[in-house]
Amino acid sequence: MNPTFLPWLITITCLLIVASAFTFVISSSRTRNEDYDDIVKRSYKFRKIFFIVFLLGGIIITSLTMKNLPYDAHAKVSGDVIKVNATGHQWYWDIDKTHFIVGQPVIFNVTSADVNHGFGIYNDKLTLLNQTQAMPGYINKLVHTFDKPGKYKILCLEYCGLSHHAMVAELTVTEQ
Ligand code: CUA
Repeated sequence: MNPTFLPWLITITCLLIVASAFTFVISSSRTRNEDYDDIVKRSYKFRKIFFIVFLLGGIIITSLTMKNLPYDAHAKVSGDVIKVNATGHQWYWDIDKTHFIVGQPVIFNVTSADVNHGFGIYNDKLTLLNQTQAMPGYINKLVHTFDKPGKYKILCLEYCGLSHHAMVAELTVTEQ
């Protein structure tokens, strides 16, 4: 057999198979339109129910999680409030007070000296307790009341360059 003939034969055979499959689908779809109507109707109904369930679920979850916004305005700030300035730099935190008392509300005035950072307060098990953005030109107020004595960590939550991971500061919280 001519060596160039075989690829042609395979190509043309495959093209004929694909073409006949298309022809079959197109011709049979014309005759079966009425059969599909019922299925289409049922699936549209199912889709509509799905949409309504998701919409209601979304509205409920959104309203439950957003009802306390803005968080600052609802934070219980009473008695002696400690004000702290916290400034992010590449790549360290400049915090003018790092020792706090249990139960005493602290307002962190968070900003940045260069690029965007994220100010995250973590406990000693590295569970995130509270956070805000540290942005150049803005002061974001973060109200936090420490409810347990111990060591806490401030970690950067926004990738800010080469030593982003090194932006760690430690806070100490005591009973008195
Ligand atoms: Cu600062 Cu990441």
